[in-house]
Amino acid sequence: MIKLEHISKTFKTGSTSQKVLDNVNFQINDNDFITIKGPSGCGKSTLLGITSLLLSPDHDIRSALYYDDFKVNFKKEKQLESLRMHNIGMVFQSTNLISSLSVLENVLLPVDYKIIPRRDAIEKAKLLLTKVGLREKKNFKISLLSGGEAQRVSIVRALMNDPKVLFCDEPTGALDKETSSEILELLLEFSKENNSALVIVTHDNDIWMSGKRKVILEGGRLIENP
Ligand SMILES: Nc1ncnc2c1ncn2[C@@H]1O[C@H](COP(=O)(O)OP(=O)(O)OP(=O)(O)O)[C@@H](O)[C@H]1O
Ligand SMILES: [Mg+2]
Repeated sequence: MIKLEHISKTFKTGSTSQKVLDNVNFQINDNDFITIKGPSGCGKSTLLGITSLLLSPDHDIRSALYYDDFKVNFKKEKQLESLRMHNIGMVFQSTNLISSLSVLENVLLPVDYKIIPRRDAIEKAKLLLTKVGLREKKNFKISLLSGGEAQRVSIVRALMNDPKVLFCDEPTGALDKETSSEILELLLEFSKENNSALVIVTHDNDIWMSGKRKVILEGGRLIENP
């Protein structure tokens, strides 16, 4: 469970300041399937960034972000890293894969070998790559893959640490309709198997409609089930 209380975010550049999130209160429960949409630039990626602890919110005496019952301290980088590693998987639109590395090397990047021995991690990676139909390509460089294949690799990478919540920021933005629905199927299947929550930011109305909880971000605020 992740809980946001009174979360705001203001970006200041030079003399201008822009309040992107305005007193957001929101909770992500175990097993949730949440879809979020909103106009470009409304703050969806910012919201995911804060919730996944990659960005800190504005300082406000009332604001708090909880992972289960644990109150996050955004000043403690080590704590943030550890919470991320144990709780969060991230899939981005631009897959953030390293094109000069192979499929397998990319998938193994987030793994902490103090937690999973390397041999077990490789076995797990191969199993997941088999599920997404890419085992045969495990030694291919990312640059040789199609957009949909690369997206499947980034999903496998996000799942390597058994995340409790999987955040996807426009995971199908660069894909055609058919590949998009395949990717959505995969995400749903994995979150069901792992008992994890799934949060998808999307511009695709069909994907947004498929969410169990449908949310719009507008004017810095979240509106649920509009
Ligand atoms: N580091 C930053 N510094 C200054 N402004 C920023 C920064 N990051 C984001 N912004 C601004 O905050 C607003 C929200 O950005 P964000 O990326 O969260 O939007 P979004 O809803 O994800 O948009 P899109 O649908 O296009 O991906 C934008 O106007 C953006 O320019
Ligand atoms: Mg975005």
